[in-house]
Amino acid sequence: MCGIVGYIGKRRAYDILIQGLHRLEYRGYDSSGVAMISEDGELNIYKAKGKVEALEHFAASKDLSGTIGIAHTRWATHGEPNDINAHPHFSQSGRLAMVHNGTIENYSVLKDALSSHGYNFISQTDTEVAVHLIEYIMQKNNCSLFDAVREATKRIVGAYAIAIVDKQNPDQIIAARQSSPLVIGVGEGEYFLASDATPIIEYTNKVIYLNDGDIAVINRGQELKVFDSNSTSESEIKITELQMSIEQLEKGGYPHFMLKEIFEQPKTLADCISGRISADGKRVTLSGVIEHKEKFLNTNRIIIVACGTSWHAALIGKHLFEEFCRIPVVVEYASEFRYSNPVVNPGDVLIALSQSGETADTLAALELAKANGAFVFGICNVIGSSIPRATHSGCYIHVGPEIGVASTKAFTGQVTVLAMMSLLIGQMKGTVSDEVVANVASDIRRVPALIKDIFKLNDKIEELAKIFTYAHNFLYLGRGYNYPSALEGALKLKEISYIHAEGYPAAEMKHGTIALIDNDMPSVVIAIKDNVYEKTVNNIQQVKARGGKVVAIVTEGDTIVADMADYVLEVPQIAECLTPLLTAIPLQLLAYYIAVNKGRNVDQPRNLAKSVTVE
Ligand code: F6R
Repeated sequence: MCGIVGYIGKRRAYDILIQGLHRLEYRGYDSSGVAMISEDGELNIYKAKGKVEALEHFAASKDLSGTIGIAHTRWATHGEPNDINAHPHFSQSGRLAMVHNGTIENYSVLKDALSSHGYNFISQTDTEVAVHLIEYIMQKNNCSLFDAVREATKRIVGAYAIAIVDKQNPDQIIAARQSSPLVIGVGEGEYFLASDATPIIEYTNKVIYLNDGDIAVINRGQELKVFDSNSTSESEIKITELQMSIEQLEKGGYPHFMLKEIFEQPKTLADCISGRISADGKRVTLSGVIEHKEKFLNTNRIIIVACGTSWHAALIGKHLFEEFCRIPVVVEYASEFRYSNPVVNPGDVLIALSQSGETADTLAALELAKANGAFVFGICNVIGSSIPRATHSGCYIHVGPEIGVASTKAFTGQVTVLAMMSLLIGQMKGTVSDEVVANVASDIRRVPALIKDIFKLNDKIEELAKIFTYAHNFLYLGRGYNYPSALEGALKLKEISYIHAEGYPAAEMKHGTIALIDNDMPSVVIAIKDNVYEKTVNNIQQVKARGGKVVAIVTEGDTIVADMADYVLEVPQIAECLTPLLTAIPLQLLAYYIAVNKGRNVDQPRNLAKSVTVE
């Protein structure tokens, strides 16, 4: 949700900033902009509504010289997406330029105070208020930019990652963070700044993750200094080595990141499983769980907090933990949990599930639980992101960078980790037999190969998508482990094709939703051979009896559903608890091809951003 890039060094800053904006475009694409101090000392800001391409077009004829600059790609929060609200923003005198990711909650109070001192505002953004405030403090206190930023951070309430340049000091960038991510890349005589490591990896693999409250002073050719905003002493700097590769950030011949990421799943799940199931297939090892095993063995309940697709994975996690560990699980939307005055006690275990590790609501929910004495455990994808750093322990899903805004490989990675975790805890607790663990663990290892098999359906699904491209509404039905799959299938379709879709527990349909069914409303029914298979078959009959069209996802060899559904997609047999890993694939492909047929921007659907760092 908004991406920041910065550079200071020897190269032309513009090239690095633009390339970085392309890498971060998944975080927001309402507008983008750059601020650079040119060779002749001018502070130039170029910005444009829309994608980074529009900015490149606009800036092409301008002065792009200079070796210091900051840049921003925006997901609008304050003020509509237009050129004026685009970042960077100038300070009142034009001396400073600033980019910002986050939201400043007390901006209107600050704005009123600054207005009374004669400040004028061109944009509707909270960012402009912050940069005016910083300049006001500099002038009033006759202090350095660093001191002014430090003072401003005490007056600003909210979330921010900011970067500022000063026309009068072309050798310095000041950056600060509170609740929004910021990473500094350390090169040879040059520094890179970004909201995540993806714009940095092609230049250096040495990075520093700033912590909340940190202010970084980045001086050209000098050692980086980081200060805690509340103390005068310097903070210790920890350099981390990135494990990412540039190929992971490219489309690799696929038309969209989403398709690439769907097809990557055999590999990403193999990486996710790697080293975590013993050679004899009888044990699961997750060090983050084992090191804190008494927390899981002694708890009376587990709370899982998440948003969106991660929330759907959490619902599958509930089934898994309850089946194998016999521990009651509640799954909460992080945004609801944090404001619901929840009952959380020492002894509770809270799992925060998040691909990005930056989702503001999930982060706040875990902080709340931590403050109430709960043990907090993170399951995330982005290494070094805020949630893993705020938790007591956790494990990564290791599926590599997910760039497509619609989550695909992260979902299957999350479900795989939850499955392994539930087997491990169940085995330690004695609530699941060694035989069941061995069977399910061996099925987990089969998943990558089985998914490869399912890809044989690709052409069939592409054809099927043509039939349904013009439907206005869809119903997705599933039960048990695959009720969350139905929710996830519907979300995938909604977010990338803009077709209304509803996920529903199949048996609930007859309590109201069935009234919607007619010839124009297709139902996608997950009807695999599980303990409620016959009941789901009845539900399909109920849909057919009302003239509805049915696309059924069934277990290989099923003839009963094949006889009654209009279209059938077969997935291989596997342990029931793992079926969501297989049914996810045709659901992802169906949504993808329908969206492509509709001409949608699959990787960057309207109004969305990947990393939701605002409330
Ligand atoms: C949907 C999607 C979102 C995210 C949600 C949570 O495809 O990607 O619904 O799942 O914004 O994000 P994370 O997992 O990063 O916390």
